[in-house]
Amino acid sequence: MRKITVAIDGPAGAGKSSVAKMVANRLHYLYIDTGAMYRAFTWAMLERHINIRDEKAVQQLTGSIQIRLEPGEEVCRVYADGQDITEEIRTPFISSHVSQVAALAVVRTKLVQLQRDMAKGGGVILDGRDIGTVVLPRADLKIYLTASVTARARRRFLELKEKGSTETLEAIEASIAARDDMDSHRAVSPLKRADDAVLVDNSDLTLEETADCICRMIEEKQ
Ligand code: DC
Repeated sequence: MRKITVAIDGPAGAGKSSVAKMVANRLHYLYIDTGAMYRAFTWAMLERHINIRDEKAVQQLTGSIQIRLEPGEEVCRVYADGQDITEEIRTPFISSHVSQVAALAVVRTKLVQLQRDMAKGGGVILDGRDIGTVVLPRADLKIYLTASVTARARRRFLELKEKGSTETLEAIEASIAARDDMDSHRAVSPLKRADDAVLVDNSDLTLEETADCICRMIEEKQ
């Protein structure tokens, strides 16, 4: 059996990271959450009050910052210059800034290099927006995981409600649609399905069913 390289791309809220984590645990693969890397870079920029338009400062930060992912069973811990920022990168404040930072070419160049280095040995599952198209165009298996905006908003709504949030379904649906639009229409590496990616629409599937389906595809290729 040969452990392969798997790319999972798709819009926000399709369950990519939950599914990728499940699959990686089941098959003993390494899960690499590339969205967390963009979030970590965004956190570092905000922490240092670097303006998104200050190209020189952004460039300097790409040269100096050390972003590290430490895979675990439950969560992938994220470090910036040795500081554990796993929780900090999930706040709505970071979520509302990350799309703009992820649109900067210098930032993408730096993080794509890091992602390729991490994927070198195979036996990895990377999830993101441009894994099959840019980061690993020769991945052994590419999946484009998506669901309708309504299905994604409903999931997020239930998740947030459990945490005590009062955000309405309509507001969540609007914010997901706005993020889709920004991620799909940016100039550099927009979110798009690779020609050779398998389309998985999980609007009517549970995350477990989605993971089952992807595990089968990997096992067929191993
Ligand atoms: O998957 P996520 O919500 O944690 O991703 C955070 C942001 O980073 C999202 O706006 C899209 C962007 N991103 C990207 O541009 N390329 C990737 N490979 C992963 C995420």
